Amino acid sequence: MSEHVKMIIEGKEYEFPVICGTEGEKAIDITSLRQKTGFITMDPGFANTGSCISSITFMNGEDGILRYRGIPVEQLAAHSTFKETAFLLINGELPSRKDLNRFSVLLNDHSLVHEDMQIFYQNFPRASHPMGILSSMVNALRSFYPALQTAEEEINIMVTRLLSKIRTMAAMSYKISLGHKVVYPRPDLSYCANFLNMMFDTPVRPYEIDEDLVKALSLFWILHADHEQNCSTSAVRVVGSGRVNLYASISAGIAALWGPLHGGANQKVIEMLEQIHSNGESIKKIVEMAKEKENPFRLMGFGHRVYKTYDPRAKIMKGMCHKVLKKFKAEDPLLDIAMELEEIALSDDYFVEKNLYPNIDFYSGIVLRAIGIPTNMFTVMFAIGRLPGWISQWRESVNDPEWRIARPRQIYVGPVKRDYVPIDER
Ligand code: COA
Repeated sequence: MSEHVKMIIEGKEYEFPVICGTEGEKAIDITSLRQKTGFITMDPGFANTGSCISSITFMNGEDGILRYRGIPVEQLAAHSTFKETAFLLINGELPSRKDLNRFSVLLNDHSLVHEDMQIFYQNFPRASHPMGILSSMVNALRSFYPALQTAEEEINIMVTRLLSKIRTMAAMSYKISLGHKVVYPRPDLSYCANFLNMMFDTPVRPYEIDEDLVKALSLFWILHADHEQNCSTSAVRVVGSGRVNLYASISAGIAALWGPLHGGANQKVIEMLEQIHSNGESIKKIVEMAKEKENPFRLMGFGHRVYKTYDPRAKIMKGMCHKVLKKFKAEDPLLDIAMELEEIALSDDYFVEKNLYPNIDFYSGIVLRAIGIPTNMFTVMFAIGRLPGWISQWRESVNDPEWRIARPRQIYVGPVKRDYVPIDER
C-alpha cells in the first residue's frame, strides 16, 4: 500500500504521497502543494529538497557510503579505470571488452580540437584562471561543432567529443600559458597517460610515462566522477532544463565548480597548507581561527553538506597520497602539516560536535602536486573528473518524462505597491 503524509495547514488537513527510493530514502511529494494549499516550502540551500529522481549515484552521508550505479566507489577505486567508470556512469552498466574498445576508438577519434580554438586561448590575458578559460572554451564548442542530423547520433557524438576534448583543451591551455608548443593527443596512449603526455612532454625532454602516476590520476578522476545533486551538478541540470545544448550546460557546471566552497577548495587547501609552511604558523592557531564565529576563515578541506562522517573518498585519497610519495621517495612537508592539522581538528570539540571531517579536497591536492600538476590547474582536474557525472545527470534529466523547466518560487519581502515618482520630484 502506498504511504501518505498528512499536513494540517490553517486547520485544514491535506494528504501528500510519499516517494521511496531503492535504498529506503523517503520524500514527501509536494508537487501539488501550492495548487492545493496556496503555500510553498522554504529551504535555502535546498538541504531538505529533492530536485529529481535519479538512478545514477547513491550517497549516504551518515554512514560514509558512495556508489556509482550501485557499485561501491571503493571497488571502482581498487579495480576500475577512469574510462571504464565514465562508461558505467553514462551508460548505466559496466562495459564488455568490446564496448570498452569501441569507446576507446571513439575517444581517440574525437581527441583533437579545432586548430582555430588555439587562437582563442592565446587571446586570454596571461593571468586568467584556467577554470574561466575552460568554461568559455567548452561553451564555444557548440560554435565549432554545430548540431548533427539525428538526435541519438548528436548526443553520442557530443558526449564522446566532450569527454575527449576536455582533456586536450585543459592540457593545451597549460602549454599555452607557459608559452610552449602544444602537444597533440596520441592514439596509442590510455586516457590518463595521454593527458599527462600532453601536459608534460616537451621537445627537449620527452615525458616518461610512469604507470603508478597514471593509476594515481585515474583514481583521482574516479573519485571525482559523480556526487549526485551537488552545486555544479544542480547547475548543469538547472541550466539544461531550459533545453540548452549539453556544452552550455557543462560550461555552467564548470563555472559553479570554480567556487572555493565547492571544487575550488582543492586549490585553497594547498594554499592554506603552503601558508602554514612558509609563515611557520602554528597549526593550533589556525584551528582556533577557523572556530571564531566572527572570523570568515574556514579550515579548507573540512566539512561537507552531506557527509557527517569521514568522506569515503578522502580515506582512499589519503592512502594514495602516502603511496605516491613513498614510491618517489619524496617528502612533501605539506603532507606532514595536513596530517597534524587533521589530528588536531578531529580531536577538537568544535569539529567533533559539528561533524566536520576532512573531505576529498583535503588530500587530493598533495596527490596532484606529486603528479606535477600546477596548483592553479587543480580545479580543472576536478572538472575533467566530474564530466562523466555531469553528462549522465544531464542525459537523465533530458530523458525524464516528468521534466519541467527549473523555476523555484520565493517569498517576497520588498516594498508593497507604491507609485513611481518623477525624477524632479524626488
Ligand atoms: N571550518 C570551520 N567551521 C566550519 C567549516 C570549516 N571548514 N565548515 C563548516 N563549519 C561550521 C560553520 O561555520 C557552521 O557553524 P555554525 O553552525 O556555528 O554557524 C557549521 O559548521 C555548519 O556549516 P555550514 O556552512 O552550515 O555547512 P554547509 O553544509 O552549508 O557547508 C561546506 C558545507 C563544505 C561549504 C563547508 O563545510 C565549508 O565551507 N568547508 C570548507 C570548504 C571546503 O572544503 N569545500 C569542499 C567541499 S567538498
